[in-house]
Amino acid sequence: MLRVAVLASGRGSNLQALIDARDAGALPVELVGVWSDRPRASALDRARAAGLRAECLLPRDHTDRLAFDRALFERIATVQPGLIVCAGYLRILSAAVVEPWIGRMLNIHPSLLPAYPGLHTHERVLRAGDRSHGASVHFVTPELDGGPVIARVRMAVEDGDTPERLAARLLPLEHQLLVASVGLYARRRIEATAFGVALDGQLLSAPLELHRNGRLETDTGALA
Ligand code: GRF
Repeated sequence: MLRVAVLASGRGSNLQALIDARDAGALPVELVGVWSDRPRASALDRARAAGLRAECLLPRDHTDRLAFDRALFERIATVQPGLIVCAGYLRILSAAVVEPWIGRMLNIHPSLLPAYPGLHTHERVLRAGDRSHGASVHFVTPELDGGPVIARVRMAVEDGDTPERLAARLLPLEHQLLVASVGLYARRRIEATAFGVALDGQLLSAPLELHRNGRLETDTGALA
């Protein structure tokens, strides 16, 4: 069973989606711990409520970003995860700690990557007048939100949308996208290659898309 460690800074609803899917028998993973940089993150409470190991390391206890990241990843390494999932982890990770995990670390980001890496994606989508928005799950590389995209979910922008409305409508779709993507990884069906993301050993020409039934589909419409 794939051992999964989760990094989260806040509310932890994406973490909860992973816990719930595992409990429902829909996600074949062992959740081996949750790490946060913020002591009051409700993600930590959710982890403890689910009986998971939950630890917080404070950036201010470390001399600089690299020292903090090294300490964090040393802690995480003690549980020997096969995959690290960044689920609302809000700190930029140093390249030195990311590099050994390339291909074994995922992030969920609230935009249709490669559009809008970084913060305030909902505001930026509205300001640009885009008619569609969404979320992406990608392999983490040292480039912020820049690693190979595994899967995306698309959603229409409606008249009168605000950043809050967009965020609220997107969130349940993010949960499905993350669970489906981690599920494919856990079943050893997706991997990062030097040329992009491969599904069942075949390079994807475009990211997978979340289907209404909660499964992921390829650009030819085949369900993964
Ligand atoms: C999500 O929108 C995620 O895409 C972004 O931060 C938010 C985290 O939400 N990176 P939660 O903490 O999982 O509820």
